[in-house]
Amino acid sequence: MTFETLSDYATLSARAASLVLDAMHAEPIVLGLPTGRTPKGMYELIVAECSQQRCFRDATTFNLDEYVGIAPSHPGSYHTYMRRQLFDHVDLDAASAHIPNGMAGDLNAECTQYEAAIRDAGDLGLTLLGLGANGHIGFNEPGTPFDSTTRVVALTPSTRVANAPLFPDGNVPTHAITIGIGTILRSKRIVLMASGDRKRGAVEQLRSGVVSEDFPASALWKHGDVRVLIGAEYS
Ligand code: GLP
Repeated sequence: MTFETLSDYATLSARAASLVLDAMHAEPIVLGLPTGRTPKGMYELIVAECSQQRCFRDATTFNLDEYVGIAPSHPGSYHTYMRRQLFDHVDLDAASAHIPNGMAGDLNAECTQYEAAIRDAGDLGLTLLGLGANGHIGFNEPGTPFDSTTRVVALTPSTRVANAPLFPDGNVPTHAITIGIGTILRSKRIVLMASGDRKRGAVEQLRSGVVSEDFPASALWKHGDVRVLIGAEYS
């Protein structure tokens, strides 16, 4: 695992964007994509670079997670987030952009299909991750087995509080579909982004090198190609 400390959020975003763009230019790529505040700057720069070019022509994307019971059109859904931040602005074929369906009638079948689709695509090639203050990656909360695959999870109270601003009516989702830690560890390369004071504790815990299911991001020490981008502040 290599750690890169960037001077500010803009520099972190530029670094992450260039890693994604380089990967897309090199070969047809399968990207694992995150949501949250941290990757917004990266998406902005990718859109600026790709709006006039066919960068995504050979790309396939799988989002890490989606809330259960939240319609794709809901302003707080990750479907909406991805359309706004990326999908509406680049040449990614709709059939190549995957996000779990949190409205599926049979959620377990949806999870099985999602995991199978990732495997059929040859597994994730480059996975971008944010970091929860409690160490979660995707929505893999503390206690998640490191060999977990795509499944329905209950969100911890602290994660629900952190994500509450997306649900101003107070109906914060209780569950989500997330790809597993095992799914993430099968990715060929992983880039984790963490920015701001809110993440300092989690970054220090990751850096300590103690590997424990109590701190999901520590699973990344079991992977051979992880780059951690640390930014000093949000924009
Ligand atoms: C959410 C997402 C994660 C994200 C994390 C951090 O719960 N499911 O994938 O990495 O929170 O979000 P932020 O970047 O807003 O701090």
